[in-house]
Amino acid sequence: MPITTAIFDAYGTLFDVAAAAREAAGEPGREAFAEAWPQVARDWRLKQLQYTWLRAVQGAHCDFWQVTQDGLDWALEAAGLAEPELRARLLQLYWELSAYPEVPGMLQALKARGLATGILSNGSPAMLEGAVQSARVGDVLDAVLSVEDVGVFKPASVVYDMVGARFRCAPGEVLFVSSNGWDAAAAAAYGFRTVWVNRAGEPVDRLPGKPETILTDLTRIPEVI
Ligand code: LAC
Repeated sequence: MPITTAIFDAYGTLFDVAAAAREAAGEPGREAFAEAWPQVARDWRLKQLQYTWLRAVQGAHCDFWQVTQDGLDWALEAAGLAEPELRARLLQLYWELSAYPEVPGMLQALKARGLATGILSNGSPAMLEGAVQSARVGDVLDAVLSVEDVGVFKPASVVYDMVGARFRCAPGEVLFVSSNGWDAAAAAAYGFRTVWVNRAGEPVDRLPGKPETILTDLTRIPEVI
């Protein structure tokens, strides 16, 4: 079955989630944060994701902006840096995350080949709109799908159902691309063709479903199709 539709996870896949902490760390007057930022960025991301999984299991959904703030509060407190100004700056930067450099060209190449393209993300619609705008990729995306339409986070299968509902295609026609090993695993188990973008050289997650292709960045996505 040929691939007709390329669907991307947002945070960490198209948009560089460490960019907010890295950029704030380079600003004047942030000596303590300049030292602590890699750990804060790791804790922030890990807590943000843990809270999505735990809330999904508990049936206690809130939007991704809430878990993003909650994860940051945990990370800043753990680092002894719970400062309101730093918190506000990091959250502001999270709305304007940069895309990885290869993203616009890669999406243009997919559109030139006649593929449908979209985002499927935990992000709230407003967060995703901010990120798509600041990365200037709105014109090469046919749809930006947010879990807010189903009220539960990934990897609940109703989230992956949104792709077939929007694009009227079978799972086997979808190439799903994620930098999150657990998201790629769940998407593979769901029936999508999958690429795991493993920038950090991590081991494969031991979960039901294995990604079909593993790449180190997004440059070769058009070749995979
Ligand atoms: C997303 C998170 C999982 O964009 O990165 O859905």
